Amino acid sequence: MGLCIVILAAGQGTRMYSDKPKVLHTLAGKPLLKHVYDTAMALVHRDIYIVYGHGGEDVPDSLQDFQVSWVKQEQQLGTGHAVQQALPDIPDVDNVLILYGDVPLITEESLKILVDAASESGFSLLTTYIENPQGYGRIIRDDSENIIAIVEEKDASDAQKNICEINTGFMVVKADLLKQWVNALGNDNKQNEYYLTDIVEKAVSDKIKITPVLAESGIEVKGINNRAQLAEAERYFQLVQAHHLMHRGVGLCDPSRFDCRGELEIGRDNEIDINVIIEGRVKLGNNVTIGANCYIKDTIIADNVNILPNTMIDNAVIGNGCNIGPFARIRPETTLDEDVHIGNFVELKKTDIGKGSKVNHLTYMGDSHVGTESNIGAGTITCNYDGAYKHQTIIGDNVFVGSDVQLIAPVNVHDGATIAAGTTVTKDVGQNELAISRTTQKTLPGWKRPVKK
Ligand code: UD1
Ligand code: CA
Repeated sequence: MGLCIVILAAGQGTRMYSDKPKVLHTLAGKPLLKHVYDTAMALVHRDIYIVYGHGGEDVPDSLQDFQVSWVKQEQQLGTGHAVQQALPDIPDVDNVLILYGDVPLITEESLKILVDAASESGFSLLTTYIENPQGYGRIIRDDSENIIAIVEEKDASDAQKNICEINTGFMVVKADLLKQWVNALGNDNKQNEYYLTDIVEKAVSDKIKITPVLAESGIEVKGINNRAQLAEAERYFQLVQAHHLMHRGVGLCDPSRFDCRGELEIGRDNEIDINVIIEGRVKLGNNVTIGANCYIKDTIIADNVNILPNTMIDNAVIGNGCNIGPFARIRPETTLDEDVHIGNFVELKKTDIGKGSKVNHLTYMGDSHVGTESNIGAGTITCNYDGAYKHQTIIGDNVFVGSDVQLIAPVNVHDGATIAAGTTVTKDVGQNELAISRTTQKTLPGWKRPVKK
């Protein structure tokens, strides 16, 4: 006997008012459906089936790395009909776990308990109590507390609407029973849908006992139907994640103002100020401080690095002891060696900068290489693009580039060279040479400025 997992993801998600299928909307940077898939993958299982429909091939197309069987539900005729589509290939002896593509916070722990609970009777159901059960299916129990039915909100009587125990939708059912019951479902209800929940009454008439499992928290079984619920789930997820990080030693100034949309690998003594966003895969060494309002994506940062406020770093490697920002923009394929200083309003792209070099103010360097212990003055610009092609600027070790210099690439400035302020460098500069290109200054004595009449 094995476990097969069916994830329902064919619903339309009308209330998102979006052209994108609901399950592709992201929570912490990851599609809702990927959260559910990752949790499913963590369980010991035989196969995973995802029932998709609305949004057509967009869903399987954008999640091609999933190791699942995609099952198309041509028309959304209800949850029972959706499950039916996935069953034909599932062995009768297996248990089937039903998951929902738009309920992303369900935990592996709850699902394990649910799976274990089905081992006896072949049917377990996850329920929970909520204060405002509106919209959910209500759990109907008999005098001995046995579950005997689930009634959908739209079909419920006023008395039934007062029941606060709700169907989370998560269940485990033995495949042969599920096939038999699902194939016998009707759609004689207010929504004319084939309700999966109607299998409860079929189980009761077949004398199969339903083992109830109570969900630990209401939040993990909450579905996402609109953008407000998505934002609420996001805040919850981020807060839980922030607390995990703090318990592993990260200093967060305010856990409610920290967002990680990916994976953050940490060292010791990392201090992160407010409104920092981490995306993709980011690795921090020891003793890294990140100032307020920084955005850091797919980057490796070594030890003793200080990132000052309002800095953006995307796809870069930052060496030991670097100082970056405030207001710096480090673009993809940039590598900073040890003790590099990057100051305010500096943009770097596809550039590597050697040990101890400084680019402190108002500079653009693209497709460049800078050696060690060089200083790039304020307002320096590499003119790397001729309108058709990108060209390289190579700057050696111990070079001094004065302020307001344009380097017209391709160009090579050798070790020890000095570039005077205001120079437009159009030719290579040799070792220890001075390059200067300025028009001679004129001074006119007794100059009368124009005056307004
Ligand atoms: C369903 C349950 C309800 C439960 C609630 C929990 C039924 C009849 N009702 O109601 O008891 O309290 O979930 O959130 O099962 N889907 C398909 N194909 C379809 C219809 C739905 O794949 O034809 C998918 C949806 O994408 C969604 C899930 O099934 O992921 C649930 O469908 P939805 O219409 O949201 O069910 P509810 O009315 O919320
Ligand atoms: Ca519905």
